[in-house]
Amino acid sequence: MTAAETEATIPEADSEALRERALASLTTARARTTLLTSCVEDPDLTAQHSPLMSPLVWDLAHIGNQEEQWLLRAVGGREAMRPEIDGLYDAFEHPRSERPSLPLLPPAEARRYAAEVRGRALDLLEAADFHGTRLTEAGFAFGMIAQHEQQHDETMLITHQLRRGPQALTAPDPAPAPLFTGPAEVLVPGGPFMMGTSGEPWALDNERPAHPVDLAPFWIDTTPVTNAAYQAFIEDGGYGTERWWTPEGWAHIRQHSLTAPLFWRRDGGQWLRRRFGVTEAVPPDEPVLHVCWYEADAYARWAGRRLPTEAEWEKAARHDPATGRSTRYPWGDADPAPEHANLGQRHLRPAPAGSYPAGESPLGVRQLIGDVWEWTASDFLPYPGFTAFPYKEYSEVFFGSDHKVLRGGSFAVDPVACRGTFRNWDHPIRRQIFSGFRTARSEAV
Ligand code: AVJ
Ligand code: FE
Repeated sequence: MTAAETEATIPEADSEALRERALASLTTARARTTLLTSCVEDPDLTAQHSPLMSPLVWDLAHIGNQEEQWLLRAVGGREAMRPEIDGLYDAFEHPRSERPSLPLLPPAEARRYAAEVRGRALDLLEAADFHGTRLTEAGFAFGMIAQHEQQHDETMLITHQLRRGPQALTAPDPAPAPLFTGPAEVLVPGGPFMMGTSGEPWALDNERPAHPVDLAPFWIDTTPVTNAAYQAFIEDGGYGTERWWTPEGWAHIRQHSLTAPLFWRRDGGQWLRRRFGVTEAVPPDEPVLHVCWYEADAYARWAGRRLPTEAEWEKAARHDPATGRSTRYPWGDADPAPEHANLGQRHLRPAPAGSYPAGESPLGVRQLIGDVWEWTASDFLPYPGFTAFPYKEYSEVFFGSDHKVLRGGSFAVDPVACRGTFRNWDHPIRRQIFSGFRTARSEAV
């Protein structure tokens, strides 16, 4: 089995198409960044809304600084515009909790800096040659920077969710879906499939290279676990029953008195949750959101199941049993369109479980892409043959057992930063992120 036989063949785009794509991706990202940093007043940009997050104005200038470093300096060979600020916006020099006390660029200056970098980057893009170096090949650096900005747009949306105070962001709700009545789980046949990618031009280092993985047959949930299902775990005393939890998970929920997902509150007989400044009843059909890995893992055990491994998740999402090929997305090789998945902050919540029939995988698994990031059982580890590119601090320094992998992307992530092969990771205690999960079980033999 070779990658060519079993990985989607991605047609080579010509330079003009690449230029268009890079321009569109950068422009979409900046529109979102602008909205997220202009819908509140300056004091809300410089404040720290949670010790887990940076002030919004840090994200804004950090976006500009990364763009300056990779597009203007590394690709364009330009001198640093403001070398003295590099350290302030280096995520490894200052942990998030420290960032509000740094001499950060004030909002107006941060906006001006990011805009100036962008102007120069677009000049560079106009004349860019997409061949020659690995950084420029197929427009990789432009794609990487558009993805980076979109990743911070998701981070900034998390900050907005943590912020107390009146609503600042609105978006239409996803279309209501008829209650999903299809099978609750789907059998994924055993055998090899091609995991990861060697051909996707804007895939990041940790998604590479494509490599075969042989799996035993397993069952996986057709949809993400819903609030109603998760509530049944709560009502059944799930948070008070040690045997559902790993020792670390049990210690963690005891120490922090966790009894429900983040942002949930019980009001008499009803569960309420706060969502972007508005309190609402927990919608039963929506995928559960803001749970940590320990909660996802405990729920799965309570349900007599387990979390899927990362490889199982990807096989469910990409393996086409008719051809043996791994597709780019569950629905095939086409770029995401609105009918496929809830992506891009079009809606500010997940869609009801069972939505997006046009986005289902060949085996019938739904909502693998978009809606909620899905915790997997797996630690964040390099694939065989991994090489760090273009910098070790994107992925390599995070490999190991401190981080669990999340897959599939949430409603808050843009299509440019979401693929069947895309890997996200976080500490197993984190739940301010837009995280949910689905469960799996091994095929009984
Ligand atoms: C891939 C989401 C874990 O936000 O820490 C942003 C992405 N890397 N800037 C993060 C990232 C550098 C990263 N995650
Ligand atoms: Fe960053």
